[in-house]
Amino acid sequence: MVGSEASPWAKTGGLGDVLGALPAALDAKGHHVTQVLPKYRGCDVRGGMVQEHRLRIGPAEFPIRLITQSQSERRRVVFIDYPPFFDREGLYGVGGRDYPDNALRFGLLAVAALDVAESAARPVDVIHAHDWQAGLLPALLRTNPARWPKSAGAGLVFTIHNLAYQGRFPREVVPRLGLDWRVFTLQGGEFWNDLSFLKSGINYSDWVTTVSPTYARETQTAAFGEGLDGVLRARRERYVGILNGIDVSVWNPATDPFLPAHYHRGDLRGKQACKRALLDTFALPVGDDALARPVIGIVSRLVDQKGFDLVDRVSEALLALDATWVVVGAGDTKYEAMWRALQARYPSRVAVFIGFDEARAHLVEAGADLFLMPSRFEPCGLNQMYSLRYGTLPVVRAVGGLDDTVRAYTTRARRANGFKFDAATGEALLGAVRQAVRLCRERPAWEALMRRAMSDDHSWDQAAREYVKVYRLARRDVRVRAAAPPPIS
Ligand code: ADP
Ligand code: GLC
Repeated sequence: MVGSEASPWAKTGGLGDVLGALPAALDAKGHHVTQVLPKYRGCDVRGGMVQEHRLRIGPAEFPIRLITQSQSERRRVVFIDYPPFFDREGLYGVGGRDYPDNALRFGLLAVAALDVAESAARPVDVIHAHDWQAGLLPALLRTNPARWPKSAGAGLVFTIHNLAYQGRFPREVVPRLGLDWRVFTLQGGEFWNDLSFLKSGINYSDWVTTVSPTYARETQTAAFGEGLDGVLRARRERYVGILNGIDVSVWNPATDPFLPAHYHRGDLRGKQACKRALLDTFALPVGDDALARPVIGIVSRLVDQKGFDLVDRVSEALLALDATWVVVGAGDTKYEAMWRALQARYPSRVAVFIGFDEARAHLVEAGADLFLMPSRFEPCGLNQMYSLRYGTLPVVRAVGGLDDTVRAYTTRARRANGFKFDAATGEALLGAVRQAVRLCRERPAWEALMRRAMSDDHSWDQAAREYVKVYRLARRDVRVRAAAPPPIS
């Protein structure tokens, strides 16, 4: 399992949650999993077994260390320790700018992962790589089988968590990464005269997956394909959407250590104490009026993807509704400034925390009544699933995984668990938030919705089962190819 984030060691978004939970879910099904992860600043590798390793990339050699930490009988994490690359302030960059050597940093991750696989006691069955940061691995293995002979028979599965981040680099990196120029072709990883790590991952893997069925369909259209829709359409026989799960041991309102009180479907009383604590933590009024007023929560990267321009367009009308807003997020300066300005203007009804804060994220999930995700696109989205589990009804735009997990409220919808809107307009967003804020005052109907939301099962078990199916298909494809007679020239 190869990727650039995994909770609890490193996380900037949902990729970290997924790679923190999927290996454990596979382990629980009896599979052996080795996870390969860069050792960033702050990663706790205590108790790990250290091994020196000389790693070769193209013309260069890197003295790295492999630190192996066992997580269970079947599961281990191998940290790639190379301080010049990974002992830095950020994972991918600082101050909104990517590090200039990211091609080499994550190229090193891919080569290191292959070296780790090659040194395993028995050949690995499958290598599962995630997002552009691991996108080079399939190309390296398929164009250099002789360098990693034991691993050459492994099935390759590549998962796209977000098509908008592609890892595009100038063609000069091709020889520096030790890549064959064969990779720099239309059928390989060449993309508008650049090398695209993501496109390489898509084209050299046996199977490609993404994180929801709807996003798998959307990404094959020009509107959502980020220029790669044709590439994905060409691979449609080997491209599926598997909805992410959530780690129900970390996100559970009945046990969550970040909460001042606990609750569950059968007894919702603790949620009110969480609401009070939330308002208090964010220095908002906590009187009876404030407690009766719906709280709308947001925990998000503040980037274009998340649809905050829609909020901006109708912010006056949104703030005219009888609701309180609590926002935890960081990202683009323009959205940070937008939320700060709203807070300055409505100090008793808008509270904003700019930064990344796990404790506050949990408190918002528990203490808010509504959770807003107006995304322009959303491969899966995890926060709406956390919200469902915490009885905090999601208001979402009907895209990607949001559309797959939220069932819209109407007066006749018996299975509804939240609120949805279609058009990417301020008016559509306002309409959905207004409907939710109104209904929130009708307690019996609202609590019925909450209980239904809390009954949805998004544990990893199902998703892990789907991945195992894809792993088996990838293995079968490799075997069939190996058995095929050589092409007649
Ligand atoms: P994405 O991966 O696109 O950011 P997801 O909904 O899949 O969106 O996952 C986001 C994850 O990151 C969630 O676990 C969410 O709680 C967390 N998160 C995002 N922003 C913050 C923040 N400012 N502080 C704490 N956690 C955050
Ligand atoms: C990406 C997507 C998000 C998804 C997450 C985990 O960051 O933006 O929608 O939930 O990956 O797969």
